[in-house]
Amino acid sequence: MKLRFRSTVCSMLAAIASGLPTQAEEFIIRTDHPGAEIQPTMYGLFFEDINYAADGGLYAEMVKNRSFEFPQNLMGWESFGSVALLDDGPFERNPHYVRLTAAPHKDKATGLTNEGFFGIAFRKGESYRFSLWARSTSQHPSKIRIELIDPSAAGETQVMASETIEIKDGQWQKYTTALTPSATVRKGKLRIFLDSKTGCDLEHISLFPAETWQGHENGLRKDLAQKLADIRPGLLRFPGGCIVEGTDLPTRYQWKNTVGPVENRPLNENRWHYTFRHRFFPDYYQSYGLGFFEYFRLAEEIGAEPLPVINVGLACQYQNKDPKAHVPADSLQPYIQDALDLIEFANGPTDSPWGKVRAEMGHPAPFNLRFLAIGNEQWGPEYPERLEPFVRAIRKACPEIKLVGSSGPKASGKEFDYLWPEMRRLKADLVDEHFYAPEEFFLSQATRYDSYPRKGPKVFAGEYACHGKGKKFNHFNASLLEAAFMTGLERNADVVHMATYAPLFAHTEGWQWRPDMIWFDNLGSVATASYYVQQLYASNKGSRVLPLTLDGQPVTGAEGQNGLYASAVTDDATGGYIVKIANTSDSPHEITLNFQKLKKGRSLTDGRVITLSAPLRPDGTPDIDCDNTLENPDRIIPVETALPASGNTASLTLPAKTFAVCRIPIAR
Ligand code: AHR
Repeated sequence: MKLRFRSTVCSMLAAIASGLPTQAEEFIIRTDHPGAEIQPTMYGLFFEDINYAADGGLYAEMVKNRSFEFPQNLMGWESFGSVALLDDGPFERNPHYVRLTAAPHKDKATGLTNEGFFGIAFRKGESYRFSLWARSTSQHPSKIRIELIDPSAAGETQVMASETIEIKDGQWQKYTTALTPSATVRKGKLRIFLDSKTGCDLEHISLFPAETWQGHENGLRKDLAQKLADIRPGLLRFPGGCIVEGTDLPTRYQWKNTVGPVENRPLNENRWHYTFRHRFFPDYYQSYGLGFFEYFRLAEEIGAEPLPVINVGLACQYQNKDPKAHVPADSLQPYIQDALDLIEFANGPTDSPWGKVRAEMGHPAPFNLRFLAIGNEQWGPEYPERLEPFVRAIRKACPEIKLVGSSGPKASGKEFDYLWPEMRRLKADLVDEHFYAPEEFFLSQATRYDSYPRKGPKVFAGEYACHGKGKKFNHFNASLLEAAFMTGLERNADVVHMATYAPLFAHTEGWQWRPDMIWFDNLGSVATASYYVQQLYASNKGSRVLPLTLDGQPVTGAEGQNGLYASAVTDDATGGYIVKIANTSDSPHEITLNFQKLKKGRSLTDGRVITLSAPLRPDGTPDIDCDNTLENPDRIIPVETALPASGNTASLTLPAKTFAVCRIPIAR
């Protein structure tokens, strides 16, 4: 975890700098009443291919339209000389390829250039794995030259790396070579020349950094995957979101198209290419190079429980009012079979049809799938009507799988009020709630789950983020209010079993939706303040909830509580306690943590407090409207200081607009 260390004096000074009087509060924590267990799945991640999160993002492929399957087959490519498009290639579901024929004169050139995703960025001295499928157009060998170029270098194109490949004969084969650029280039391109009189056919032209996350060949960008792992998430929900539904059913996410050899995974459109006309990206497609196998493997590698979402037979309901756009409720069998087959793909023995596919992809051991979400943001009677047969079939075949249903696109209102009872009737194990809401919502909803029934389905806060009023972009205050709200998730851990912020990733040049948790360009990435809030919760989730009160009341930002929010948990790993406090007010607070009913002979010992706060403006007030950027990534990062504790109390000064995680051990 990225942490800054600071002396306690510095934090006191920051508190004083705000110029406002310090307020004193005593939090009472009853250690003899440990309550609900914090589920291992409590704080997780939701990944959707929005904002170029997959192709052009986490999926490390650098070539756009590598199989020439975009509807405009040469989109992303610029061809020169004699280049023809053909469609009887070696991969049935991606049949297009290009034929390069030598120009009649030796000084003329034939070939093509790929522009990548907002350019192809490469670093000096690092190795890049180029590969393609090729055959010579005769029985004689053919030759190509591959270059990484900087087209904008001082007015003339410079070649930063170059290799040749000899294409042996007329049989399709995979060829690979490594390219090591002599300079770092942000907006480079990949260029391929035919370098012989004999022509050749080229297909699935690919370029990856040689170093990917965990070294997988069809791998993920290392910096981005590492950021996910660093959160220590308990859950990974994938692959969406609206892309699960599709704008129409033929373009819904179909997991079976995303497994098996990568060359033969058919292209799908990405609805985020056109959903917002003011953020229109006509070259945004889903190659499915990052498919269900890769999602399961990533979940395993970052220690997160996988939670796939599958289509329930409904296309996006926002875009499809006509009932004919959806699958009739009595014709759902293929969809239900997809769900059952998915469970077999994840968990089945290697001699089962889908377990065999998993094993052939390199993972004979099961992925231990335990949760499955059916439908994304669905609503109306058409949803339970379709969900019911799924529930029946999955309960019968795989009773161990826990099922997640939807409560619609909003966490209140008519649809929500209708769906919750329906989810109870269908005995969903969890219900997914979504809320992208302004400041007031996050300030007022820390008590949201206090009144939820304790029996029946559990809550999955599956998509949420504070969207500031007039500030629909990342800024510190939004993350602070998320932290405040999350104390309410934690206090209600008997009801809330999962929570995931959304969306996760955004490319600085290709976003459709803000705010997002991690921003990146082709060379780097930055964690936002919201990222650090998620990380602080997930890495300090603790074991069991402890009652924490101020004047006899839970600390929920209520009247008279001066903008404070708090929750407390035991930490079985250390035998100590963890207290999370969000100070959303403009004043610093002197807080005493009073741990009552410690076991006989036990006392607290000095601990540490990790705080997240905004940088101070010249006048000493916190600049809550700013966030980290690629240029300035460490403006807001967790800062660790000592937390003196003894007997049964610990005290701290919490500056205005600060989130703090206090870790207090027990003396041994
Ligand atoms: O997170 C962005 C979108 O918000 C998701 O695709 C959808 O589920 C919700 O409407």
